[in-house]
Amino acid sequence: MVLRFVVTVVCLIGGLHDVISRQGCCGPKQWTGVAIQKLGRYDHDLDVASLADISTNVAYDYVAKKISLQQKIHNITTDNKDLLHVIYDFKQKTEYTITNGKVCIATPISEEMWPNCVPENASHLGTYNISGPVVDVYRVVTPGGATVRFSVTYEVCYPGTESLLTSGPVYDLTVSVYENVTTGIPDPSVFNVPVFCHHRQMKTNYTSSTITELIHRSLLSWR
Ligand SMILES: *[C@@H]1O[C@H](CO)[C@@H](O)[C@H](O)[C@H]1NC(C)=O
Ligand SMILES: *[C@@H]1O[C@H](CO)[C@@H](O)[C@H](O)[C@H]1NC(C)=O
Ligand SMILES: *[C@@H]1O[C@H](CO)[C@@H](O)[C@H](O)[C@H]1NC(C)=O
Ligand SMILES: *[C@@H]1O[C@H](CO)[C@@H](O)[C@H](O)[C@H]1NC(C)=O
Ligand SMILES: *[C@@H]1O[C@H](CO)[C@@H](O)[C@H](O)[C@H]1NC(C)=O
Repeated sequence: MVLRFVVTVVCLIGGLHDVISRQGCCGPKQWTGVAIQKLGRYDHDLDVASLADISTNVAYDYVAKKISLQQKIHNITTDNKDLLHVIYDFKQKTEYTITNGKVCIATPISEEMWPNCVPENASHLGTYNISGPVVDVYRVVTPGGATVRFSVTYEVCYPGTESLLTSGPVYDLTVSVYENVTTGIPDPSVFNVPVFCHHRQMKTNYTSSTITELIHRSLLSWR
């Protein structure tokens, strides 16, 4: 269950990282920020709906080819709280998911790290000046069928907001607002993989839920 969040957020971030603007702006190669997220989920097969609040500390490093996502997840429906730390190491081609500081799952990554640019086939929906920085808004439908709408700041191509809707049978709608985005990685230790992760056996393939597969497929075929 927890894994679904991870994957959802990865896709979100993936959407953002693939962000170039009208003429192909790319954001910084290294940045950190906090994504404040709301996730609504409807499982069509089970006919069950639920909600979660997520706060994700993102560290993105295209130089070291690593991404760290530290997530506080509050499943409002079940009142369950989890801390997830997902570390992508694209050089080692491994993704580590550490749940509540105890359980570690290592999964191989086959895709390349996506650069911090808008995908070429994103539709530019407009340039807006709401309150705060001027943003460009785009929409992309991933080959996996998820619709991502995101904004990047006009000046420096920082992530602004994002919404992601996956197609069924599990429908996830995630809305994210990025705060405190700054260039650089002030604390590289966020990429440190705990020692106990290396003792775990690596999963050989993705055998998880439909949604997980969907998003992975989206990511894989994104570029
Ligand atoms: C909340 O937890 C329930 C039970 O584990 C799970 O079925 C549901 O998908 C979760 N909802 C969200 C939004 O994560
Ligand atoms: C955005 O709005 C601010 C405040 O109204 C204004 O000063 C600024 O010139 C606007 N920028 C653009 C690009 O329209
Ligand atoms: C966007 O472009 C990529 C590669 O050119 C392609 O694989 C993908 O299907 C395209 N997506 C859409 C929604 O057109
Ligand atoms: C952003 O930074 C300010 C100032 O350091 C801090 O008060 C605020 O909590 C931060 N926002 C988030 C979402 O962490
Ligand atoms: C993935 O693993 C499952 C069970 O471990 C197996 O049934 C399936 O064939 C594997 N898929 C691939 C593509 O290797």
